[in-house]
Amino acid sequence: MHIIPVKDFNDLGRKASQFIIQLVREKPDAVLGLATGSTPKSTYKELIQDHRLNGTSYQHVRTVNLDEYVGLAKDNPNSYHYFMRDQFFNHIDIPDRNIYIPNGLASDLDEECRRYDRLITELGGVDLQILGIGRNGHIGFNEPGTSFEVMTHVVDLTLDTRKANARFFNTLEEVPKQAITMGIKNILQSRSILLLASGPSKADAMARLLNESKITNAFPASSLHQHRNVTVIADEDALSMVYLERRA
Ligand code: F6R
Repeated sequence: MHIIPVKDFNDLGRKASQFIIQLVREKPDAVLGLATGSTPKSTYKELIQDHRLNGTSYQHVRTVNLDEYVGLAKDNPNSYHYFMRDQFFNHIDIPDRNIYIPNGLASDLDEECRRYDRLITELGGVDLQILGIGRNGHIGFNEPGTSFEVMTHVVDLTLDTRKANARFFNTLEEVPKQAITMGIKNILQSRSILLLASGPSKADAMARLLNESKITNAFPASSLHQHRNVTVIADEDALSMVYLERRA
């Protein structure tokens, strides 16, 4: 696991965007695995700025998002469909047909999961998967206890995760109780992974990930120790409990 310490959230965006821009320049039809949440926002902002200033094109890039809430329509401002358009897709030149996000309104959710797995295979797999990390170590919506062997599936969200995401909703009750998420197996099949972490609320999870190498279902991010090409970009607050020698 390669660790890149950065100063703050804005620095995180600058550094992470460099990885993505380099990949898209080298492989214009790259498959990007994308995440939502607060953490990648500064990265998307940098990518948009680079697109405007330097013309990096996403005409041939394909994107697959990690997850989507069950029960929210695409135009619901709390859906991940909406988030991705608002934060990224509306501001670059990616065609709609190249954007893939699980459909949380599918009538048969299990079939939607299988469809999503087939789709990723048909795209040739993910070149670079962007990940945030939950305070409990979740990646995607793979909560503690999830098998590392599952592919895309429907999950019941933990109260901790629903509370963490309640800031985007009016009340905790409005936060969906289920989501569709790529499984850890999908994530580990990506050719490379970029895990991003920012802020003091991630310090515990980063300490557990980086100070220990134990792989356990109780801490889903530990599965990343099994992958050969993981880069972690994290800011000072997120790394505040990580041993200094690992930060050098
Ligand atoms: C988002 C996702 C989640 C988030 C995680 C961190 O697509 O899959 O695993 O990455 O919950 O969220 P933030 O960045 O809001 O702290």
